[in-house]
Amino acid sequence: MAKLPIKLAIIGGGSSYTPELVEGVLKRREQLPVSEIHFVDVEAGLEKLEIIAALTRRMIAKAGADITVTASLDRRAAIAGADFVMTQFRVGGLQARARDERIPLKYDVIGQETTGPGGFAKALRTIPVILDICKDIEELAPDAWMLNFTNPAGLVTEAVLKYTKVKAIGLCNVPVSMKMMIAAMMDCEPDELSLECAGLNHLVWAHRAWLNGKDVTAEVLQKVGDGAGYTMKNIAEEPWDPDFLNALGAIPCPYHRYFYQPDAMLAEEKATAQTEGTRAEQVMKTEQELFDLYRDETLAEKPAQLENRGGAYYSDASLNLVDAIYNDRKTVHVVNVRNNGTISALPDAAVIECSAVVGSWGAKPITVGSLSPAVLGLISQVKAYEQLTVEAAVHGNYNQGLMALANNPLVPDIHRAKAILDDILRENHDYLPQFHAG
Ligand code: G6P
Repeated sequence: MAKLPIKLAIIGGGSSYTPELVEGVLKRREQLPVSEIHFVDVEAGLEKLEIIAALTRRMIAKAGADITVTASLDRRAAIAGADFVMTQFRVGGLQARARDERIPLKYDVIGQETTGPGGFAKALRTIPVILDICKDIEELAPDAWMLNFTNPAGLVTEAVLKYTKVKAIGLCNVPVSMKMMIAAMMDCEPDELSLECAGLNHLVWAHRAWLNGKDVTAEVLQKVGDGAGYTMKNIAEEPWDPDFLNALGAIPCPYHRYFYQPDAMLAEEKATAQTEGTRAEQVMKTEQELFDLYRDETLAEKPAQLENRGGAYYSDASLNLVDAIYNDRKTVHVVNVRNNGTISALPDAAVIECSAVVGSWGAKPITVGSLSPAVLGLISQVKAYEQLTVEAAVHGNYNQGLMALANNPLVPDIHRAKAILDDILRENHDYLPQFHAG
């Protein structure tokens, strides 16, 4: 049976990452007949949106593809009739991210985009907006799949699955990056490796790694402990303690450094913030350079400079998933979905990040069952923080916000939790109407 062509709606289309996504679409033309891409953004992002749309059209023309590109501020028009809605936006832009990173540092707490109080602040700004987007999807494209990259991706996906009927899957580039890095360490092709991933977004472990059927977990841990390259562009490569890794017995993700080595990561963040600026402040400069390149009318491909960003492979993660759903591939991908017994100690409704079989029905997680207390303590605490954050964001509830921060393992003291919360609410006043209602 001939399959219908695909319409993609990209919410946050003006992102500097978008050319990678376009490259991914063009690379998969044989198996994914995308006929239309509708980029949408907000008024403040209009200039970037137009630059991205023009570059996209040049990339498509160079590839000789036949894809209609629309760029508009009309979210409903983008969503209407879409098969896949990809969400990749940042409420408040990089300025808001820079504040998220700076506020906790004032209190000697990790200041990071997605973990700790920075991720909390981002979630408060983002959740009401994404729930609004979901209302449009429920009305205009109820059968569409929403692939959510918007950070903090797991927490935001939990809000979507709890409060809407949208068919949503959360995605992240970390698991793909882990696989690529482990393949480089083991000197093999990524496809020869199988990783059994389970945890939360930006807190995911590969509990087992197999290379062509042989369990190589201990070998990988040893290489990571010996200093094999194992981080993303946005995370300082603090060395791992080999004895700790050996005792842990599971391969952590690069973000685990914030939880297992907060002293060193905080010291590094504070030093860098003084010299080069926080990560958001550094990224603002990179973005400027990228958009200067994107404006060049002779450019018709993704420039290499995009690889300096932390989000490498994000296009592979999302388009391989589109491929698996559209072509009913029944292949294994790491996704953010409802737990439903996958990690037995967590609630069924909790969103986890795990390996799953993906086909036309969506994603079916691969059960890991009971995990060791060595990892369960951290997951349970962070999940409690996430659930409290969803409630605080949806209801604009100060007490739940305070309890969320008090339960975040990166916030060591309730007095600091309260001061940080007050700063976040004050500095994000215009983005948090839910806290000012009534
Ligand atoms: C990682 C994370 C993404 C995050 C990105 C930030 O790849 O998995 O969730 O958005 O880094 O990268 P940046 O270059 O903006 O610091």
